[in-house]
Amino acid sequence: MRKAKLSVVNEFKVGKIDPRIYGSFIEHLGRAVYGGIYEPTHATADEDGFRKDVIDEVRKLNVPIVRYPGGNFVSGYNWEDGVGPIEERPKRLELAWGVTEPNSFGTNEFMKWCKKADTTCMMAVNLGLRGPEEARNLVEYCNHKSGSYYSDLRIKHGVKEPHNIKLWCLGNEMDGDWQIGHKTAYEYGRIASESAKVMKWVDPDIELVLSGSSNLGMKTFGDWELQTLDLAYDKVDYVSLHQYYDNKTGDTDSFLAKSMAMDEFIKTVICICDTVKGKKHSKKQVNLSFDEWNVWYHSNGDYVERWSVAPHQLEDYYNFEDALLVALMLMTLLKHADRVKIACLAQLVNVIAPIMTENNGGIFEQTIFYPFMHLSNYARGSVLLSNVTCDKHDSKEFTDIPDMDCIATVSDDETELTVFAVNRCKSEDYTLSVNMLDLDGFEAVEHIEMAGFGALDGNNFVSAPVKPSLAPLPTTDGRACDIHIKPFSWNVIRFKKK
Ligand code: AHR
Repeated sequence: MRKAKLSVVNEFKVGKIDPRIYGSFIEHLGRAVYGGIYEPTHATADEDGFRKDVIDEVRKLNVPIVRYPGGNFVSGYNWEDGVGPIEERPKRLELAWGVTEPNSFGTNEFMKWCKKADTTCMMAVNLGLRGPEEARNLVEYCNHKSGSYYSDLRIKHGVKEPHNIKLWCLGNEMDGDWQIGHKTAYEYGRIASESAKVMKWVDPDIELVLSGSSNLGMKTFGDWELQTLDLAYDKVDYVSLHQYYDNKTGDTDSFLAKSMAMDEFIKTVICICDTVKGKKHSKKQVNLSFDEWNVWYHSNGDYVERWSVAPHQLEDYYNFEDALLVALMLMTLLKHADRVKIACLAQLVNVIAPIMTENNGGIFEQTIFYPFMHLSNYARGSVLLSNVTCDKHDSKEFTDIPDMDCIATVSDDETELTVFAVNRCKSEDYTLSVNMLDLDGFEAVEHIEMAGFGALDGNNFVSAPVKPSLAPLPTTDGRACDIHIKPFSWNVIRFKKK
């Protein structure tokens, strides 16, 4: 049995957790909308055509924001196509994903769905084929009370009260040549800055996210952030980061170390934001919105019929090692709670998602559903400064990978402390000694674990064996305890003040 030590300090906190770090994403892509959140013919559909079984699952995940409507989709989207009488809405060739968009679901339907799913919208505007004018009009349509062309149009469409959407993305992945209307950093920085200006003139209370690099591997990474922030710094509140990981080589040790690369990515973007702040002698701090992150590769290469409507697209079936990396990625985001204020697991239903549905049929929870649900429900409040000591190992792609990764969080009223831990090793049991340096009177009330699974084990519509269970409770003396952490496992140990 190997030994690890986790020392936590309540006095010094990494940062308060912005609940929006538990966001997710619904794009008009594959069966995320049609057959996912919206399926009027489904047995559980409500009067608006929303699947109630999906809403129940989304509620379990406790997601406070959902990014919409894309993704790559947004760069070719006319928001006007998706409002007004459904029978008058045009069908469009959707170039980002090579399908047909029926537009029977749009902004007002999504906003209604958000209310029913206990969430809010993070809206993206099209800065690919469109620009400041259409972005400004959409803010007016959504947020202006009445008495102007677009606010009155919303009222004519049956929505009396404004949606009051407070968080907006200025386009999507504009650095990528796959993007409709791809731009250079200068072109994007200028259009983002001018769009931001008029959007905030319509509603000064909105917050704006500048599109950063599509991933750490982009040749323009770094320079893109420097140039675009230089052009738009005063007008934006966040810069975005996107990152998906895969295990195409079947090298689990390297795969589970990829959260270390994510950590470097975050640190670098923080440095760039602060460099621009310094250069501009600005008092304002731009924070991070990691608004696309997940594992994505299982469905790569799947056949999609061109111009079909809502095909099976990007439907990854996740396995247990994916669940461990999702846990590690979200823990990495939380370790930067002082600067990462928003994050979106991409995506929410059917498309690289924790929730899977069958058309007119069943539903199941993917392996990655559980660590996200645990962190979203139990890692609320603040992340504590902590120190972990354990053995390290190397892989083909990384060196000095800690066997164990842990974080600790405390609730706002300081009555609940939760330790989250991943054991990356396939064959080593660990004793994790938790030492609460300046906390006392806590007892363990629950140890949830996901352990005993093979790396490739997964769930499907017929059988879903990969799920959490309860482990025996460790004994505490109020401030210290030894916890048995099984090999290759995900753990949530909840303490409450006696
Ligand atoms: O989430 C799937 C796609 O990944 C999004 O549309 C795009 O922004 C990213 O490349």
